Amino acid sequence: MTTYESLLKNPDFKKKSVLETLIKEYTHLTREEIWIHLNDPIDEKTLQLILDGYHQYIEDKKPLEYIVGHVDFFGKEFYVNEHTIIPRPETEYMVRAVSNWISIDTSKQQKKTYTLLDIGTWSGILGISVLLQNPDTFNQVFLSDISEEALEVAKKNWERLIKNYQGEKQFLKSNLADFLTNEKEETSNHIILVANLPYIPDETFDNNALENVQKREPRLAFVGGDDGLDLYREMFEQIATRDAKHNTYKVPITMFLEMMTRQIEILKKEFDRLEFEELETFHFNIKIVKVQQKN
Ligand SMILES: C[S@@+](CC[C@H](N)C(=O)[O-])C[C@H]1O[C@@H](n2cnc3c(N)ncnc32)[C@H](O)[C@@H]1O
Repeated sequence: MTTYESLLKNPDFKKKSVLETLIKEYTHLTREEIWIHLNDPIDEKTLQLILDGYHQYIEDKKPLEYIVGHVDFFGKEFYVNEHTIIPRPETEYMVRAVSNWISIDTSKQQKKTYTLLDIGTWSGILGISVLLQNPDTFNQVFLSDISEEALEVAKKNWERLIKNYQGEKQFLKSNLADFLTNEKEETSNHIILVANLPYIPDETFDNNALENVQKREPRLAFVGGDDGLDLYREMFEQIATRDAKHNTYKVPITMFLEMMTRQIEILKKEFDRLEFEELETFHFNIKIVKVQQKN
């Protein structure tokens, strides 16, 4: 008979925090409840799930988030699977930066409604979190990605988390912001665009990324060419094409993007029609940047 105590004290299981997470996941007990029930037996089926999960973590180097199938992001639980990267803590800074900016922008006039674009949405964490933090702010939300599997996860997260939104929503399979250039009717809303596009230089990822990241998470979600900026460049060009087509310079797009410090300087030199403002810094090197057309 295996009890919680005998399992937790078993020297074969060296990663106690992983074991404890798996116990909590499959028994639905809190940490305190596990301690209260230390001498209770664990039923066979639950024990098997815990042991399978532990072996997948240790032997297959499968991240815990994929084993349990969810992750916490900005205070909410999101589904994830192996088609979606695991959201990183720095990306939470973007949600905060966007919310701060909206509260300043809306204080200037009484009622303002925005369109929200989440480009490269993957599991939907950014668009959904911005919407949850700013209810009654958007009447159009577009979540887009090049990966259909990712959009399926984004849809599931939307259904799970968004309850009272009355506006228009679309999940779009698109190369970056390409769908904007095909837009038939332009919106008169101010557009807020959030994107955490792949920005790691190819070589840096291949030489330095952790083994379990390389082996388990989709490369497509991380790498952005020689200097990591291929996708941001392409997206800026798409937006310029759209603006030229619809003559929409007067309808602002305010972009919130994640990238590395030195990349901001490169983009500033290449896109002098754009204004870059650093809003948040994570671990010295990762920035949340606001980018918009210069006046
Ligand atoms: C770093 S992940 C970001 C995912 C999520 N927004 C987040 O912050 O955790 C980058 C995302 O960009 C998407 N992506 C890569 N190339 C793309 C492209 N050409 N067009 C649209 N999305 C793309 C990937 O599928 C992935 O979802």
